[in-house]
Amino acid sequence: MKTETASATLAGTSSGPRSTADETSRSGALPDSICVGAAADIPEGGRRIVAVGKISIGVFNVGGRWYALRNFCPHWGAELCRGRLTGTNAPAARTGEYNWGQVGTILRCPWHGWEFSLESGRAVFDERLKVRTYPVTLRDGELWIELRSKGGAQETE
Ligand code: FES
Repeated sequence: MKTETASATLAGTSSGPRSTADETSRSGALPDSICVGAAADIPEGGRRIVAVGKISIGVFNVGGRWYALRNFCPHWGAELCRGRLTGTNAPAARTGEYNWGQVGTILRCPWHGWEFSLESGRAVFDERLKVRTYPVTLRDGELWIELRSKGGAQETE
């Protein structure tokens, strides 16, 4: 598993991650969106963890779909996005039958194993528990996290 870590500058630079709302950034509030780099730099199965002000967000490439979620486990606060990607059992038609589903889109916390859907941010064992997710958009080959919008994955161009 390859995990990259980057620090996203809120004021923006020509060489690193940058944001859309520089005026907002100066006040300490989060920008509307932030660029985390070229999509080509995160291979399929890869991820990048970026710091945006005081928060940390993980961006994942799973089969050409992009997901972003807060790098904070609601249990004891582990860096959730450093966990292993796996799947989970899906409902089966008959007793004793098992269907492995959501392959590669379930994130297991590295500390105690709580599992969350990359798509919804919801815990597998209790959907009332949720980690913040963010839409990811692809603009001219660059990945942008929409910080003011809720959830969901985005396919590549
Ligand atoms: S801190 Fe994530 S499961 Fe405990």
